[in-house]
Amino acid sequence: MTKTILITGASSGIGRATAKLFAEKGWNVAATMRSPEEESELRERSNLKLYRLDVTKKEHLQNIISQVEDDFASIDVLFNNAGYGAVGAFEKSTEEEVLQQFRVNVFGVMELTREFIPYFKNKGEGMIINTSSVVGRFTIPLYSLYCSSKWALEGFTEALQYELRQFNIRVKMIEPAAIKTDFHGRSLMVFENDSVKGYEKMEKNILSGMRKRNEKASGPEVVAETVWKAANDGSQKLRYPTGKGAGAVLFARKILPTSWFNKMVLKQQNR
Ligand SMILES: NC(=O)c1ccc[n+]([C@@H]2O[C@H](COP(=O)([O-])OP(=O)(O)OC[C@H]3O[C@@H](n4cnc5c(N)ncnc54)[C@H](OP(=O)(O)O)[C@@H]3O)[C@@H](O)[C@H]2O)c1
Repeated sequence: MTKTILITGASSGIGRATAKLFAEKGWNVAATMRSPEEESELRERSNLKLYRLDVTKKEHLQNIISQVEDDFASIDVLFNNAGYGAVGAFEKSTEEEVLQQFRVNVFGVMELTREFIPYFKNKGEGMIINTSSVVGRFTIPLYSLYCSSKWALEGFTEALQYELRQFNIRVKMIEPAAIKTDFHGRSLMVFENDSVKGYEKMEKNILSGMRKRNEKASGPEVVAETVWKAANDGSQKLRYPTGKGAGAVLFARKILPTSWFNKMVLKQQNR
């Protein structure tokens, strides 16, 4: 039977590339996004449908499974992809900016997963793939909120896989390095608080450095291929690093003493 994947944040970047790839390969795709009426690239067809889903809206989360089931028989894979980066010196951030970062990147994932667990249990199988980042396993300055949201996701996903394995529900995560998407454009919310001083040089070096690095990064198609592999390799593998340099940096993180690794991060960021 044709399989179905539900993707959050399918209006752009990794989510959109994954929607295209799975549809091309013959899967049914439930491409969810905040504003489906604005979508111009993904065309609805028999195996690809657009749905409205803001991951911070409980009523959207609670209704999405039944909506998709009206079009496709059942859902096999949930791909939690929606996310953005709230960045800048933590001192400049507001409580609302902290909460919103976690509402989208963490609580949205948890609450959609909460909808899917009984559904997959009832079905007797299922898969949840979460989108972490290489910075879910180390940190970079000015990314304290974004990194902590991805660290939270890493902990959540790793613990959940133990709980759900007995129900034949596999839980995985992809860990992209820098990927050339709109992430460093519209998905980067830089804190604006000019009354806080002292971070000017760091902001100039790091934020412009990240944008430049992003220009040379792998495209989102590379991540889509990794999601395809995770969904189809039949394994219980938990983590899938992806994109240029992801494997190398995570290997360095694993083998180097933390103090050396942290010096390396600082050096990179000051280039
Ligand atoms: N690009 C990178 O360098 C990189 C590296 C590691 C991890 N990641 C992760 O990859 C994921 C996708 O990012 P991307 O690079 O593809 O960036 P992107 O092209 O900017 O896409 C971000 C997507 O998230 C959606 N989104 C944001 N807030 C949402 C909400 N409240 N409800 C539903 N959707 C929401 C956006 O939807 P709208 O169109 O409605 O704004 C957009 O579709 C994110 O989780 C990100 O943290 C990216």
